Amino acid sequence: MKKLIVGNWKLNPTNLAEAKKIQTKIRQKVTGLRNVKVVICPPTAYLSALSLGRSNSIFSLGAQEVFWKEAGPYTGQTSPLILKDLNVSFVIIGHSEQRDLGENDEQINLKLRVVLDYGLRPILCVGEKERDDSGYYLAQIKRQLEDGLEKVSKKMVKQLVIAYEPVWAIGQDQRKAETPTSFLQHALFIRKTLSSLFGPAEAQKIPILYGGSVTIKNAEGFLTQGQADGLLVGRESLIIPNFVALAKLANQIK
Ligand code: PGA
Repeated sequence: MKKLIVGNWKLNPTNLAEAKKIQTKIRQKVTGLRNVKVVICPPTAYLSALSLGRSNSIFSLGAQEVFWKEAGPYTGQTSPLILKDLNVSFVIIGHSEQRDLGENDEQINLKLRVVLDYGLRPILCVGEKERDDSGYYLAQIKRQLEDGLEKVSKKMVKQLVIAYEPVWAIGQDQRKAETPTSFLQHALFIRKTLSSLFGPAEAQKIPILYGGSVTIKNAEGFLTQGQADGLLVGRESLIIPNFVALAKLANQIK
């Protein structure tokens, strides 16, 4: 499967001109890459201005949020229909920064299902806040997967993307990121959990990305040794040459 390189811009940049510049440059520079899919997820307020018409096979637009109702008296929310209308293809769901603001697994599940219903691809983020030596935290990851994916039918599985982002590894110096070997172990655990939900053949089809302080220096390890199906990139996704280099790197790895 094509590697997925997803840029989560979070709440950056703070003006549209800059957002357009970053998007245009990245798009120009990744054109022609065949083995990678590049997704940028800007702040919601920019989605309309950055909408691409139809997304192509290399470059797509993602959202950082969605609400589970299509329309009505829901002040401040983002409808899945609006996202679809703007040709958004992916939606980040369950990011730890949203969970920290109070989003719970039930809400995450509602968002994920509405995204699937409208044919968009959710990127479900899971990951522990802290690790303990006895491995109790694995139960937390399992629960996030089981609750987030509740009532998702097998036929929707091909739309799913999982991002494993240990919370302690996000926004850190890259030396504090996860290691490729440990990522691989956790990805296997996630795959096993997905397998018990959807069966081994279906679970195999779900890309599992690594996220948390990805840089051009540590990315290769995650993609080769760690066998990651892609990367969810925060800060480095706003630095044009670095993000382009990540996409080119992923393009070379089979
Ligand atoms: P970071 O963010 O790459 O800046 O650590 C990753 C994320 O939160 O998705």
